Amino acid sequence: MTPSPTFRIAPSILSADFARLGAEVSDVIAAGADWIHFDVMDNHYVPNLTFGPMVCEALKPHAKKADGTPVPVDVHLMIEPVDALAAAFAKAGADYISFHPDASPHTHRSVQAIHAAGCRAGLVFNPARGLEILDWIIDEIDLVLIMSVNPGFGGQSFIDSALRKVEQARRRIDASGRDIRLEVDGGIKTDNIARVASAGADTFVAGSAIFNAPDYAGVIGAMREQLAAAR
Ligand code: DX5
Ligand code: ZN
Repeated sequence: MTPSPTFRIAPSILSADFARLGAEVSDVIAAGADWIHFDVMDNHYVPNLTFGPMVCEALKPHAKKADGTPVPVDVHLMIEPVDALAAAFAKAGADYISFHPDASPHTHRSVQAIHAAGCRAGLVFNPARGLEILDWIIDEIDLVLIMSVNPGFGGQSFIDSALRKVEQARRRIDASGRDIRLEVDGGIKTDNIARVASAGADTFVAGSAIFNAPDYAGVIGAMREQLAAAR
């Protein structure tokens, strides 16, 4: 089945084997990943701790297809404050850098700093947060990321109210007339990805659904079949 070219599947390496991260990135790209989602946690903004810019830099050479085409590195910062590490991730090879606006006292300035460092900028919305800030910043950003779990851990259940928020975000993005990706993160599986797409998402983070399965290509292929049937 031919997938819509607008959909992107972004495996989160949070659920990969940390003892062999480079090979995991290469394997999941060979299995059809469009982006690599990189979850940065600081044990402060969220109650968990993962990896920093040095790990991103080490993995960057693995973020390419067999023919050498680069695969975007999608950095999701769950850290507070944002700016210093955002700059470090830009240097480490990030393509997209997203942060939670409630983790930065000057959201607009953080977005500008990410752009000045040569990356695309995204804003992330926790399950109980509204989208109102987009009234003031949608013209500046490249990605909206809707959390469908509380940030901090892989393997949680999808929170259904995220679907309504995705619909609202889709309306706001379409009204803006800008090229902004609408990504959803948390609890996405083969059996709910179509609903998320129907709500208006175009980019899908999936950690445990892919990395906890024996056959990454099988899961990504099944997700693409669901996506192709969704619209
Ligand atoms: C959670 C992270 C997610 C996580 C998703 O804080 O932002 O990217 O890896 O994992 P799954 O797909 O297992 O819910
Ligand atoms: Zn994430």
